[in-house]
Amino acid sequence: MKEMFLNSMGLDNDIVEYYLPKDSPNFCTGCKTCFNKDISACPHSKYTSPIWDSIINSDLIVFTSPVYVFHVVGQVKALLDHFGTKWMAHSPAKEMFTKKAVIITNAVGQGMNNVIKDIGDSLDFWGIAKRYSIKQALYDIDWSKVSLKRKNNIKKQCDKISKKVQKEIKKPRLKIRILFTVMSIAQKLIHKSLVKKGDPSTTDYLYWKENGWLDGKKPWK
Ligand SMILES: Cc1cc2nc3c(=O)[nH]c(=O)nc-3n(C[C@H](O)[C@H](O)[C@H](O)COP(=O)(O)O)c2cc1C
Repeated sequence: MKEMFLNSMGLDNDIVEYYLPKDSPNFCTGCKTCFNKDISACPHSKYTSPIWDSIINSDLIVFTSPVYVFHVVGQVKALLDHFGTKWMAHSPAKEMFTKKAVIITNAVGQGMNNVIKDIGDSLDFWGIAKRYSIKQALYDIDWSKVSLKRKNNIKKQCDKISKKVQKEIKKPRLKIRILFTVMSIAQKLIHKSLVKKGDPSTTDYLYWKENGWLDGKKPWK
């Protein structure tokens, strides 16, 4: 399905691909160094930083995962855990608010919406401006036995989404704009209570402040 989507996108794109678990074999250990510093300080940074840099430098992010026991495969979840500090509740990357992403998933029968949510939650909380999904129940485990009707349906979705992602983005979708506002209020409230107790500012608060996001600036135009 990923190959079909890339075909629909055209052959003149530079594509950087990562395969899991090969390109990021570790589970997050919960050390929280990324929350206190940055993902570059993660003990698994050798693997995770190049992936994050590729995401930052991309025009389009494509995540793929089949359904395993009704959810995203563990390998993808293990990678996404490493980027928890990039959630809007912490220190989101400004680049995300003008980015597009596509989630591609399949199953024999059921669970694709859960996969879209499992990955989509991270994309939303990273601040991804627009996201799309392509999904198909195959009703077989052998691709050669999947009906032509279902293969055509995948092709139709790929063509439709590849057109949509070419469109220019002016600002993030409403959900992202609302999340950003809620998170900026939360940063201010948390900071206020810390000041009251005489505690130092959090790394996240300082990041939001430095970006001007607590004084009306937005990470999009
Ligand atoms: C461990 C495991 C769990 C699976 N769980 C589900 C499931 O919950 N629902 C489903 O419809 N298919 C399930 N499947 C089937 C796969 O989603 C399906 O075969 C998919 O097409 C595999 O994608 P791939 O060929 O890209 O690896 C499971 C397969 C495996 C190996």
